[in-house]
Amino acid sequence: MKLDGKTALVTGGGGAIGGAQARLFATEGAAVCVADLFLDKAETVAADVAAHGGRALAVSLDVRLAEAWTAAVATAEHEFGPISILCNNAGANFRVGFDEQTEEMWNILIGTILTGSFLGTKAVVPSMRRGGGGVIVNLGSLASIRPGGGSPGYAAGKMGLLGLTRSTALSYATDRIRCVLISPGHVDTPFIRANNPYSPNTEETSIDNPDNFERRRAATPLGRLQTPEDIARAFLFVVSDDAAMITGSMLTVDGGAAL
Ligand SMILES: NC(=O)c1ccc[n+]([C@@H]2O[C@H](COP(=O)([O-])OP(=O)(O)OC[C@H]3O[C@@H](n4cnc5c(N)ncnc54)[C@H](O)[C@@H]3O)[C@@H](O)[C@H]2O)c1
Repeated sequence: MKLDGKTALVTGGGGAIGGAQARLFATEGAAVCVADLFLDKAETVAADVAAHGGRALAVSLDVRLAEAWTAAVATAEHEFGPISILCNNAGANFRVGFDEQTEEMWNILIGTILTGSFLGTKAVVPSMRRGGGGVIVNLGSLASIRPGGGSPGYAAGKMGLLGLTRSTALSYATDRIRCVLISPGHVDTPFIRANNPYSPNTEETSIDNPDNFERRRAATPLGRLQTPEDIARAFLFVVSDDAAMITGSMLTVDGGAAL
């Protein structure tokens, strides 16, 4: 039990990667606050954790709103005690280039990816201090390494997380709070498969299209897309004491795609 006695707050917790983290952390003894823009998705994951004997709570959270963060952290701390782990997974993407990307899209992307992680960090730090320390993990992307020309808001947001991660790590090291960026490659989830409002996909972009799936597979030297569980296991390592001296760094979990 690597996370016995810990409380984790997982954003995008109703999604594939966040959901896999919630399930894995709970099997390692953590109590998990599953937070998502869509409460029904968070409730499904929390119910699944409970059905397997774990402790979980679902909350509605739009990571772009500071007041929503205050409420989510208060609820989680009241239920389970001080937050020791924060996973900033919530993300968005609009897969259009500079000419087509509107200011509204840009604001959603920067708001969800960058401002959301900033606000989450500010919201949990007092709770982590009360508990004697903690770990914050931001979720990067290949775009944190090689943003390409696809979606300027996604590129700026995911690159920005590099700076935010390093700034957080240095700012709070003396509070025994670590911060790490985990950058996956191509992960088979609704983010790149489905047509969600925060991450729309068409035949042109979805991995439901076998050509798109094969293009991503072929771009991964280890020969397959990642699963949400591949990513969750890396998160478990980083939030556990096995990574006690790791802070401010980036870990890629991409089958070699960024090489
Ligand atoms: N799937 C991939 O190939 C891949 C690769 C690299 C990085 N990522 C990152 O993973 C994250 C997406 O996770 P996933 O792949 O499990 O997809 P997913 O669509 O299953 O999950 C994303 C979750 O985030 C939630 N969300 C969206 N906006 C939110 C907001 N404003 N506040 C709170 N929650 C919000 C959604 O409701 C959803 O449950 C993003 O940060 C994305 O950049 C994904």
